[in-house]
Amino acid sequence: THKLGILISGRGSNMQALVEGSRVPGSPYSVALVASDKPEAAGLAWAAGQGIATFARSPKGLAKADYESQIDAALRSHGVEAIALAGYMRLLSDAFVARWRGHIVNIHPSLLPNYKGLDTHARAIEAGDSHGGCSVHIVTEELDGGAVLGQSKVPILPGDTADTLAQRVLAEEHKLYPRIVAQWLSR
Ligand code: GAR
Repeated sequence: THKLGILISGRGSNMQALVEGSRVPGSPYSVALVASDKPEAAGLAWAAGQGIATFARSPKGLAKADYESQIDAALRSHGVEAIALAGYMRLLSDAFVARWRGHIVNIHPSLLPNYKGLDTHARAIEAGDSHGGCSVHIVTEELDGGAVLGQSKVPILPGDTADTLAQRVLAEEHKLYPRIVAQWLSR
């Protein structure tokens, strides 16, 4: 099975969904490492409690290239072959993306190519869109710009706020991400 590394910055609910997906019989991947740029990320403690190796380091005081070399070394020392970003809120450098080209995916809370970047739900509501959603895509040098591997769509309802829409989309993220990662790694 393919060894997956997951990068998080916070809650880690998508990381949890990926871990749970890895435990389904016949899963093509296992989670070899959960790494975070935020040592206090809630998801790290959960992963450690599951017996999964973790790497936690703040980039503070380090040049980006040096910081990313440490992440790279941690991933490689755990035999990681593919990376899933799961609420990792830091831009990866072009050099890092090039080193892992075609081997990094991300989940983004919009129907790409709409609403790259931040505040996706507020922007979709503001625009009067009928639907929001989430996308899993290959990570390239262009922010939220790589090939889309799968999407889920949810209705935007009257009275929705960014928070209520985020909750509805998040439930779909948890189903979509493990399914698409499994499919991607079975290719
Ligand atoms: C998720 O909604 C994810 O799509 C989004 O952050 C949330 C992380 O939640 N990602 C981005 O906005 C990436 N730019 P989680 O930590 O519970 O998975």
